[in-house]
Amino acid sequence: MKICIFGAGYVGLVAAACFAESGNSVIAVDVDKSRIDGLKEGIIPIYEPGLKEMILRNQAEGRLSFTTEMTEAVQASLVCFIAVGTPPGEDGSADLKYVLGVARNIGQAMNGYKIIVDKSTVPVGTADKVREAVKAELASRNVAFEFDVVSNPEFLKEGAAIDDFMKPDRVVIGTDNVRTAEIMKELYDPYMRKQNRLIVMDIRSAEMTKYAANAMLATRISFMNQIANLCDCMGADVSAVREGIGSDSRIGYDFLFPGPGYGGSCFPKDVKALIKTAEECSYDFLLLKAVEDVNERQKEVLADKLITALGSPDEEQPLTGRTVACWGLSFKPRTDDMREAPAITIIERLLAAGATVRAHDPEALKEAKKHFGDRIEYSTNQYAILENADALTIITDWSEYRNPDFDRIKSALKSPLVIDGRNLYKPDRMAAAGFRYLPLGRCG
Ligand code: NAD
Ligand code: UGA
Repeated sequence: MKICIFGAGYVGLVAAACFAESGNSVIAVDVDKSRIDGLKEGIIPIYEPGLKEMILRNQAEGRLSFTTEMTEAVQASLVCFIAVGTPPGEDGSADLKYVLGVARNIGQAMNGYKIIVDKSTVPVGTADKVREAVKAELASRNVAFEFDVVSNPEFLKEGAAIDDFMKPDRVVIGTDNVRTAEIMKELYDPYMRKQNRLIVMDIRSAEMTKYAANAMLATRISFMNQIANLCDCMGADVSAVREGIGSDSRIGYDFLFPGPGYGGSCFPKDVKALIKTAEECSYDFLLLKAVEDVNERQKEVLADKLITALGSPDEEQPLTGRTVACWGLSFKPRTDDMREAPAITIIERLLAAGATVRAHDPEALKEAKKHFGDRIEYSTNQYAILENADALTIITDWSEYRNPDFDRIKSALKSPLVIDGRNLYKPDRMAAAGFRYLPLGRCG
C-alpha cells in the first residue's frame, strides 16, 4: 500500500519504519528540514532501540523515503497519516494547530480519493475538524475529491516502540464506513501475528479510547505511589503489596511500580487534556484531578527524603555544601526523551536547596543539557559522579543501575546514603552492606 506519514517524530518514524518493514511504500514528511536532511543521510534524530537498523534497511531497499515536499507525498499515497505533536495549550487542552495544519496541507495537495488517518492523540471531535479543514481547502480549489477520515490512535511505549508496533496488544480503528475499515484491516493484517485484536469502532469512541487508556494507566501509577508513601509511614513493603494485589487477575501486575511520578510526553499532557475535555461539557473529572495532583506531589518525594536525611528542613537552602549524584535523567529507561521527566523537577529542587548536582544517564545527557546547561555536572561514567558525593539518588531505572558494583559505590561516596526512586535493590542486603538505603515504601 502507498502511505505517507506527516510528522517524523517518535510515533511517525516508528510507524513509517514498521509499515515499510511489512512491504508498504512509505514516505515520511516533516516540516523540519534539518531532521529530514539528517534522515536522508541515515542520521536518526531520536534514540529508540531497533529503529535505526529498521530505517536504514527499508531506506536501502527503497520502501522508505523522507521529504519536506508535502504535495508529492500526498499525491503518491492512498493513506495519509497525521502523526504530529498535540502539545498542551496554555489551558491544558490539546493544541490542534499542527494536526489541522496537516489537514489543510492534505486538502491543498489531494488529487483523488484519500484516507486521512489521525494517529496523533486528539480530543473527541477532532476527526470532524480535520474533515472540515480538508473540505474547506477542496472548496477553495473548486475540486470535489472524495476522502474518509479515520481515527487510529497509537499505543506504543517509548523504549519498546518497535515491538509494540510490530506486535500490538490491539489496534483501534475508528471509522464511519465499511470500505475504510477493510483497507485499514488489510494494512494492519501483518501485525496481527501475536493475536488478532483489531478493534473497529465509531470515530468518537476511538478518540476517547486513547485518552481513557492513558488516564487509566496514570491512575494506577498515582494510586500505587500513594500506597508506597503510606507503606513508608506504616512500615509495610510496597513490593509485597504489589505482588499481593497483582496476583488478583482483575488487577494484574503491570503499571503498579511506585516511582518519582509519571513523566514523558504523553501521560501528563493527556491527563490534563481529558480533564479539559470534561470541563468543556461541564463535567468535573474529580478522579483525574487527584491523579494529577498526586503526581505533582510525588515528584517532590525524593528531594524531601534527601533534605530530611542530609539537611535541616527549616533552612532556606538546606543542602548548601552538599553534593548529590543522580543516576538517570530521561523520563524512563531506553529513551533519551526528557519531556516532563521527573528528573527536571527533582534536580531543580535540589539546586534551589543549594546542592551541587552531578548526573549520569546512558542516553539523555544531550537533552538534559538543554534544561540544566552548566548548572549541573554531567558524566558518561556512572561511578565518576559518586566521588565524595553526599548521596546517590536513583531517578530512572536504566538496566545498568540494577546490579552495580556496590563496593565501588560505597567507597566513592562520602557517606553511604542511597535514595532509590525506583526500588532497585533489596533493603536488607543494602543494610547488610553498610548502606543507609531509602527506597519508596519498603521496609528492611
Ligand atoms: P514528536 O514531537 O516527536 O514529533 C512530531 C513531529 O511532527 C516533529 O518532528 C515536527 O517537526 C513534525 N511536524 C509538526 N508540524 C508538521 C507538519 N505540518 N507537517 C509535517 N510534520 C510536522 O511527537 P510524537 O512524540 O511522535 O507524538 C506525536 C503524537 O502521537 C502526539 O499526539 C502524541 O501524543 C502521540 N503519541 C505519542 C507517543 C510517544 O510515545 N511519543 C505514543 C503514542 C501517541
Ligand atoms: C505511555 C503508554 O504506556 C503508551 O501505551 C502510550 O502510547 C504512550 O504513553 C503515549 O500515549 O504516548 P510512555 O509515555 O512511552 O507510554 O511510557 P510508559 O512506559 O507508559 O511510562 C510513562 C511514565 O510512567 C514513566 O515516567 C514511567 O517511569 C512511569 N511509570 C510507569 C511508573 O512510574 N510506574 C509504572 O509502573 C509504570
